[in-house]
Amino acid sequence: MTLFSFLTLGYLTALTFLLRFAGFISSYLIPSKLPRYLHPGSWAIVTGSTSGLGLALATALCSRGFNVLLHGRDPEKLQRVFPDRECEILLLDAASCFSPESYESSQTKIHDAVTGKNVSLLINNVGIGHSIPLGNFRPLESHTPASINVLLNANITFMTHLTYLLLPTFSSATPSLILNIGSVAELAMPYLTVYSATKSYMSTFSKALDAEMRAEGKGVRVECMVLGDVDTPVHPMERSLSVLSAEEAAGWVLERAGGIGMWGGENIGAPYWFHGVLWWACRAQPWWALRAGITANLREKVRKDK
Ligand SMILES: NC(=O)c1ccc[n+]([C@@H]2O[C@H](COP(=O)([O-])OP(=O)(O)OC[C@H]3O[C@@H](n4cnc5c(N)ncnc54)[C@H](OP(=O)(O)O)[C@@H]3O)[C@@H](O)[C@H]2O)c1
Repeated sequence: MTLFSFLTLGYLTALTFLLRFAGFISSYLIPSKLPRYLHPGSWAIVTGSTSGLGLALATALCSRGFNVLLHGRDPEKLQRVFPDRECEILLLDAASCFSPESYESSQTKIHDAVTGKNVSLLINNVGIGHSIPLGNFRPLESHTPASINVLLNANITFMTHLTYLLLPTFSSATPSLILNIGSVAELAMPYLTVYSATKSYMSTFSKALDAEMRAEGKGVRVECMVLGDVDTPVHPMERSLSVLSAEEAAGWVLERAGGIGMWGGENIGAPYWFHGVLWWACRAQPWWALRAGITANLREKVRKDK
């Protein structure tokens, strides 16, 4: 290779890095693009809206003028957490509703729930960790076949089929937006193997579907919002610069909604700047260094969990 080729390669690499960095910074500076998706009489669907981040997202969307279709599996809980709201509800158990036996009735429920509505926003928020009854951080071999199936169904089968069934609705209410709630755990975390892999599926699904929507000339954007630690009932933590409350996390998600992937960047990003810096720093490391750091940290948590 000539010196000229090396220089060109160097400049192109530097330019790519600069563009990515500019996209990263500017995505936190631009005003929220959420109003683009708020049409007259717009509806948003939030899955898993009975607690934690989903509850905070649904509440924030109501106050930003969206009609919200609340998804949950427990009608009494939905009524309890939204006592004064005139919201409609969609009852489906994410872990089982798309089994072969239940598929048709779930499809009918979804169809009935969205018919006649201008649905322009879907937030795929339902997601469960390894948690109960096994403890959060566990080796794969301590799972049961049933616990693995629940994780896969709730975290990926549900969002995949729900999105698939709703696509015609979104294509007719453009511009519309699908937000998938991801996690930094997608970086491949030992002792969180299944959860971590489901989150990685979610970001690849978001990237591929967004590219497909662009290729088809549809006005449907898909983004994956990558979160670090959030203090929620299932994941109680002490607040700090890196640990958000559910309300703060919902605020950041809605502020960045529609703005992830600026300047040709990836449509996967951390809505909260500090999680973004951590995620960036993790991805910039060689895998052996990151693996060693994550493993040491998580082995300690496994030890405490026992
Ligand atoms: N908390 C964190 O630190 C963190 C970090 C990164 C990403 N995330 C992601 O953020 C999302 C929300 O997490 P969270 O911490 O807010 O969790 P959460 O407080 O446990 O809320 C989960 C929601 O999903 C619902 N859900 C769970 N299993 C369901 C099922 N089988 N059918 C129907 N609904 C079901 C729950 O309903 P019930 O009330 O009926 O249980 C609840 O409304 C998840 O995708 C998670 O992976 C969280």
